[in-house]
Amino acid sequence: MIDLHCHILPDIDDGPQTWKESLAMARMAVKDGIRVIVASPHLFRRRMVDLNALNEKAAISARISQFQEKLEAEQIPLEILPGCECPLSLESIELLAEDRVMTINDGKRYLLLEMPELSIPPATPDICFQLQAKGITPIISHPERHMIFLERPEKLLRFLDLGCLMQMTAGSLTGTFGRRVAKVSKMMVKKGYIQMLASDAHSTGGRPPVLSQAVSQLGHLIGNNAALAMVTTIPEKIIKGASMF
Ligand SMILES: [Fe+2]
Repeated sequence: MIDLHCHILPDIDDGPQTWKESLAMARMAVKDGIRVIVASPHLFRRRMVDLNALNEKAAISARISQFQEKLEAEQIPLEILPGCECPLSLESIELLAEDRVMTINDGKRYLLLEMPELSIPPATPDICFQLQAKGITPIISHPERHMIFLERPEKLLRFLDLGCLMQMTAGSLTGTFGRRVAKVSKMMVKKGYIQMLASDAHSTGGRPPVLSQAVSQLGHLIGNNAALAMVTTIPEKIIKGASMF
């Protein structure tokens, strides 16, 4: 399996703080059947827009090289690819234009985009349109955990129509975020709003790097082949920068 959204690099955001923790997450992911992880630290270390705390592409790449060496030394069969979780803001779009934002696998084709927690800014469709015009498909991270989409899931249709893709968090299906999120998540999946599943792991604890349990639940909703595609063939196209349709 491929995990497209995972905070696994140490001391770069609110994910693990030490290599020991990152390696423990890597072991857990491999045990679950994950073979590739897109490391997706928040674009800004403390999450809010702060240009002094920007996770530059070079810093992400350097961490990944170090991590890959450690994984090989520990004989952990896991490949780490670069990425980031980019907050939806005009500043992010400017940074993207300056090539200072890590798109998925640095392919400049897909970008993990995080909405502000409590709102859908009026500029959102325009920002999605601008990204598409640059050849970048926005992947909206965990819409099922967003206050407004949770209340009005049909609002996702507008963004799907704009060509955005939707990534659900595995734990949303398995109850990590409560019954209501689990219920709405299932509905979103059945309606066909969701194209991929990822862990959005931050540690081996509360949000761990595991997908298999959620994939098996997905299987009951949409069939095993379609469920598996959300963690295999679809993310594979994304890391290769291939077209989705
Ligand atoms: Fe995340």
